[in-house]
Amino acid sequence: MAQNGSAHNGTAQNGPSAGRDAAMPRPVEGLQVTYKEIFINNEWQRSASGRKFSTYNPATGVKICDVEEADKADVDKAVEAARAAGRQGSTWARMDTSSRGHLLHKLADIMERERLLLATLESVDSGKPFLHSFFVDLEGSIKTLRYFAGWADKIQGKTMPVDDNFICFTKHEPIGVCGAIIPWNFPLLMFTWKIAPALCCGNTVVIKPAEQTPLTALHMGALIKEASIYPKLVNILPGFGPTAGAAISSHMGVDKVAFTGSTEVGKLIQEAAGRSNLKRVTLELGGKNPCIVFADVDLKKVAEEVQQGAFFNQGQACTAASRVFVEESVYDEFVHRSVENAKKVVVGNPMDPRTSHGPQIDQDHFDKIMKLIESGKHEGAKLECGGFAVQNKGFFIQPAVFSGVQDHMRIAKEEIFGPVQCIFKFKTLDEVIQRANSTEYGLAAAVFTKNMDRALNLCSALQSGTVWVNCYNALHTQAPFGGFKMSGFGRELGEYALSEYTEVKAVTIKLTKDVAESRKEEGAHQ
Ligand code: TAP
Repeated sequence: MAQNGSAHNGTAQNGPSAGRDAAMPRPVEGLQVTYKEIFINNEWQRSASGRKFSTYNPATGVKICDVEEADKADVDKAVEAARAAGRQGSTWARMDTSSRGHLLHKLADIMERERLLLATLESVDSGKPFLHSFFVDLEGSIKTLRYFAGWADKIQGKTMPVDDNFICFTKHEPIGVCGAIIPWNFPLLMFTWKIAPALCCGNTVVIKPAEQTPLTALHMGALIKEASIYPKLVNILPGFGPTAGAAISSHMGVDKVAFTGSTEVGKLIQEAAGRSNLKRVTLELGGKNPCIVFADVDLKKVAEEVQQGAFFNQGQACTAASRVFVEESVYDEFVHRSVENAKKVVVGNPMDPRTSHGPQIDQDHFDKIMKLIESGKHEGAKLECGGFAVQNKGFFIQPAVFSGVQDHMRIAKEEIFGPVQCIFKFKTLDEVIQRANSTEYGLAAAVFTKNMDRALNLCSALQSGTVWVNCYNALHTQAPFGGFKMSGFGRELGEYALSEYTEVKAVTIKLTKDVAESRKEEGAHQ
């Protein structure tokens, strides 16, 4: 998902390098991983258990390094640190709010300086094409920090018009310790989506990156320290979900948890919050996003854009265009164009600037996608192209296009999270609205048409947190992002995110004398 712009930026079909020159950024050569330990109190620490786990390069399947494995004891230590940093009277709590913004800007400046290194590290650990990491993930991460830096001194309450002899106003206060549990598909972007609004609103953070992709989050620890962000404000705990993640979501000292990942784990997080201290919960979960294409569009352009929406990030995006509904009269042409485009996708080494498509995150995920592709064939959809393993090392899948997909099939209902474009045929507006909404998810939807009345009607009718018209994956830092239905609740980004990281306090002051009494007294004195 491209942030502040369209997914074209760095996701062009023929590789992001097409038409660019030698001034293109290049990955750092001979990359050494420096930060592999738990980050608590601005210090690097060994795990309490002495255990480590390995992180692998998805393009080769080869181990990159071992990382310290955080568990409950480490989470306890991190939460204690985060509570101490945010306690009443602490430097952080008393700080001029504009200084919070200054710290976030400083972190963004350092990220700019380290952009090549961070993008290289992100690609090595996650398998994203380097140019995508550089132009999409790093761009969005830095923008997120700067956007929330701007809000830090602008979060203000209201004064309510109550009875004359009372003054009533609201204050927006930090929630406290914010736990964050993030996935492997956008490791750095999700890291900044969580820490930036939390810090902007005056909270402290305990964050767990996904076990597959801990490296950029850990590197951010060093940059956070360099940015003079106080010790204990951000604590980074690499580890596993059922241990470190569960310890965060059930911790009595964590006041809020923000989660991005599967709907299944989202439910566990909410249960754990309910069983512990009723911590605030925001969930950004899966999607099975409808993308509706009417016959009146420029089919060549739209077929390209829609396919980028399906294959971007190797299809590993919660917003992926996973159900493409095409109007009957242009269905065959749309399928033909999609197949031709899919065959041109350059699958390969993420560090090669010609590559537009990297590997899936790991063997388990590769297997899950391949099984779903098999189920599609078995249930009678037509696999037009792709859908096979590309190399004998790494987890590469040639992007697949299915036509003739029916609503009851598994590939039509389950989140595949892989490079599989499913194309459905529709006849009428009412029919497509009903079919688009007939999913448990409600994250994103898109409409391609020149008819603005129709587009606006669909904007109201589609049950999803985001609706794009004549564009796809156009995320903006200023606009809220989140789901309807089982895609979760709460909103990230934009002004709306601030309410997810603050508590509202109503302060009511009774005047010692009411206005009438004061006037009477004043009259007596004159
Ligand atoms: P999840 O299991 O949901 O992982 C997301 C995060 O939650 C990871 O940090 C994970 O830790 C942690 N986690 C797992 N179990 C937990 C628990 N019991 N308590 C607290 N935290 C826990 O996703 P996945 O297994 O990586 O991917 C599975 C499917 O989820 C994908 O195929 C895709 O459909 C969906 N998914 C959606 C998204 C988005 S953006 N909505 C992102 C990733 C995946 P570990 O890393 O140790 O598992």
